[in-house]
Amino acid sequence: MTNRQPLVAANWKMNGSLASIRLLLDGILKGIQSETKPEVVVCPPYIYIDEVARNLDNTQVLLGAQNVSQHEAGAYTGEIAAGMLKDYKCVYVIVGHSERRALYCETDAMVADKFARVVESGLKPILCVGETLNEREADETEEVIARQLDAVIERAGVQGFANAVIAYEPVWAIGTGRTATPEQAQEVHAFIRLRLARHDEAIADGLRILYGGSVKADNANELFNMADIDGGLIGGASLNADDFLSICRAAI
Ligand code: 13P
Repeated sequence: MTNRQPLVAANWKMNGSLASIRLLLDGILKGIQSETKPEVVVCPPYIYIDEVARNLDNTQVLLGAQNVSQHEAGAYTGEIAAGMLKDYKCVYVIVGHSERRALYCETDAMVADKFARVVESGLKPILCVGETLNEREADETEEVIARQLDAVIERAGVQGFANAVIAYEPVWAIGTGRTATPEQAQEVHAFIRLRLARHDEAIADGLRILYGGSVKADNANELFNMADIDGGLIGGASLNADDFLSICRAAI
């Protein structure tokens, strides 16, 4: 059985200002000193990546981006290339977040292209998958997750997952305060691992699968204790340093 290092990632989404991001980062860095167990990643809005990157030197916190273009370079106004993120020492890139899929019409094929671009660039994708409430109620959860995963496996190959992370984020749990129960989350995490194992057991065994969706300081522990939950992708609670640090401490 592989010993997977837990990972806790903060997705700050489109929140904060230069001043508040400085304060938040400072609070996290001061509190994180002794917490060596989980890998900790912060994903600021693009415009603050430079500021955050400069403050992460000689710390154990890693930098991630919230999105990336599927293209290498060129006439794509408003987009950011993976190569540019590397200039700022980004390590991780979130791809296929449900907000990108729903609000910016990112299809499974686009998400797969972005994933492949991130892998080619030597960065590590955090691939988000998850079903809507309607899909869950129609008993389509596994079908949806399988479709989202298979699109990426077809495009990038199972080898593309060797350094990747998957985040299971049920859409109905994001920002709603309605968390999946540990059992509900575990069921989907196990399904995801099994789906990858059909292609490569070692990659599936080493793959870190994060849970995201209303993770808070008081529910993180029971979620992270489940066999196939290897940490979390945290939205709202990552905007408060103390709350985020508590969640990091729960991931051991
Ligand atoms: P919340 O933690 O605010 O529910 O957001 C989860 C999320 O979307 C992280 O990417």
